[in-house]
Amino acid sequence: MEGVTDFATRLWMAQTAAPDEATTPFLRVTKDYPSKRISANFLPEIELSKEHGVVSCVPQLMASETPDLIRIGEYFLKSVPFIDINCGCPSPTVVGHGAGSSLLQSPEKFHRYLSEVVSALGGEHVSVKMRVGFLDEGEFPALLDVLRSFPLARLTIHGRTRTDRYRGLARWAHMDLASRQLACPVVGSGDVLSLESFDEKMKEAPCLAGVIVGRGALRNPWLFRQLRQGKDRVVVSRSLVKARMLQFVLLQELQQQHWESFFKTVRDGFFNLGNELSGSEAEERNELLAAKIFNGVERECLAAVLWPVSRVSLARGKMLWNYLRSGLNAPPELSVAILRAPDWLAFLNALDAFLEHLSAEDVAVGYHREWDWVYSGAGSTIQDSREIT
Ligand SMILES: Cc1cc2nc3c(=O)[nH]c(=O)nc-3n(C[C@H](O)[C@H](O)[C@H](O)COP(=O)(O)O)c2cc1C
Repeated sequence: MEGVTDFATRLWMAQTAAPDEATTPFLRVTKDYPSKRISANFLPEIELSKEHGVVSCVPQLMASETPDLIRIGEYFLKSVPFIDINCGCPSPTVVGHGAGSSLLQSPEKFHRYLSEVVSALGGEHVSVKMRVGFLDEGEFPALLDVLRSFPLARLTIHGRTRTDRYRGLARWAHMDLASRQLACPVVGSGDVLSLESFDEKMKEAPCLAGVIVGRGALRNPWLFRQLRQGKDRVVVSRSLVKARMLQFVLLQELQQQHWESFFKTVRDGFFNLGNELSGSEAEERNELLAAKIFNGVERECLAAVLWPVSRVSLARGKMLWNYLRSGLNAPPELSVAILRAPDWLAFLNALDAFLEHLSAEDVAVGYHREWDWVYSGAGSTIQDSREIT
């Protein structure tokens, strides 16, 4: 997810509940960019493995012109089995440049684009992420016909059109159709928020090879564990919620301000303990990591109040909180102080106050639609508007 799932977030997600795999946010490729260098933190997973506490990650690329995409695709294919092409981004800037979901505007254009990429890179090295149409879902069968001609590594479908952006509900019947008609594995996307919604979607589209979870993984970061274990509730301790929340901010800070020592620490195996830590263990690991990188001290702990958290990392923490709060069973008023916190200390105090209001030490994490207003396709279908007469 663009602007969300950078390396620090993927590492954090792997530490929290370990999804099977991740994808980078799209890398927008042009004739001149990237030219000779790609940012070290775009896909550091290339140099890491499961033992380092990360999950494998597919690079996603977006380009208006196929030669640009092919050039960078060839670079990544030295290290990964396939690259993903973004044919779904609805942003007006991206569409205006002829990339993302604009590739779906005509089946001929879509065919030409894929044919050039597949003949250069090989279908088995290419996966596609798309929507069910540009203007209208009626465009889907013709797009499916195009896809039939290519032996892709995988197809992921977000069941909305470009016109929908994130409104309404994703159409899983379209994903079902694709999974029955195409030879490649088809993965579904849209509105997986809980075990219940996952089960419903798998009933509607039983031949899918898998699902991806976007916003739901921020609303309930333990969702992957829940889905794996087939449990209808995730219960975690308040102290673990707090430790994971703080860890997110810490990792953001380390990624932005201390990349080299941070990456060395990851490569040295600091995160190989996995995702079954208790709240106090997770808190201690945070403090050890902070002391190691901020103060260069191996064995001491540095309490969270002393971390030098920049405005950018604080803003990232608030972004996560804005999703996560709809997964925690407390009224939104209490969480507003966290979103408004002017600095790190105020953020910590507001978080403590919020957690104290949760009724018990053990917290059931689950989605509360009524408390969510972030990119909420499902939320926007609530009939809360009045007709203008
Ligand atoms: C903030 C945001 C950024 C996104 N960025 C990307 C992206 O870079 N590449 C992509 O393929 N999809 C992107 N998506 C779409 C998601 O991958 C997913 O298909 C969509 O959000 C529906 O799934 P969900 O209901 O599980 O979130 C983004 C979605 C959001 C909300």
